[in-house]
Amino acid sequence: MLTEVTATRYVTPLREGGSLPGLVEGDDLVPYVMKFTGAGQGRKTLVAEVVCGRLARALGFRVPELVALDLDPVVGLGEPDPEVQELLKSSGGTNLGMRFLSGVLGFDPLAFSVDPQEAGRVVWFDALVHNVDRSWRNPNLLVRRGDLWLIDHGACMIWHHNWRGAAAWADKPYDATDHALAPFAPDVAAAAAELAPRVTEELLGAAVADIPDVWLEGEPGFDTPDAVRRAYVETLRARVATVHERITLPEGGAHPGAGR
Ligand SMILES: Nc1ncnc2c1ncn2[C@@H]1O[C@H](COP(=O)(O)OP(=O)(O)OP(=O)(O)O)[C@@H](O)[C@H]1O
Ligand SMILES: [Mg+2]
Repeated sequence: MLTEVTATRYVTPLREGGSLPGLVEGDDLVPYVMKFTGAGQGRKTLVAEVVCGRLARALGFRVPELVALDLDPVVGLGEPDPEVQELLKSSGGTNLGMRFLSGVLGFDPLAFSVDPQEAGRVVWFDALVHNVDRSWRNPNLLVRRGDLWLIDHGACMIWHHNWRGAAAWADKPYDATDHALAPFAPDVAAAAAELAPRVTEELLGAAVADIPDVWLEGEPGFDTPDAVRRAYVETLRARVATVHERITLPEGGAHPGAGR
């Protein structure tokens, strides 16, 4: 289960995020980036954040701590922007909180270098969860004191938008030609050898156990939240052993973002 925190103050919208995440303060006095259940992308975005965020952390990647953030929409009554008001009003209850990291920079491939091992691990992980949101245009990587942090896994695991077709995702290719770390000669074979054996039923089970039930209830085709959790585990298990064989990297390690 995720730690439960109550949002006590809505501080400001984070304008750079497409889903209009907000900066809020919790009753533990910690600042969180809040992703709203009422956002247009829906609650599956939040499920993807939890599953991928927890899995990545378990594999040793840096991902900001995730919590379940309870929101009483009254908290944002003073917020003047009508778009934000709507979002708050439609998001009462359990939302996702991600610990706000101070002192971070957005990843810039021209200003920051990543070694082939680390690049390989990130590309391999993104292939496993089919992350389409780590391109050089929108890297969703943060740099803090020289360390790389992964954020924004909301667009991963697109198979959960159509569970009936999920089995076909066991051997789909992953196009990493636009990946933000593609120019750093990612060693995906080494990453697969190191990480794939660690993605066990148990590890996946622990990641999906953290999804709040309220985001899984009423999923068409499933009787219980645990049945949906099992479907996430099965789809990822079916991909893990051979996904590295289906990653396309740019020839010569270059992509249009390199050498801008
Ligand atoms: N934990 C964090 N600490 C500090 N800054 C953060 C954190 N999470 C997000 N941000 C900042 O907020 C921005 C938007 O966050 P994020 O990418 O998660 O939102 P989004 O709405 O899903 O974005 P997108 O437009 O990529 O769909 C990030 O690019 C980053 O600048
Ligand atoms: Mg983003």
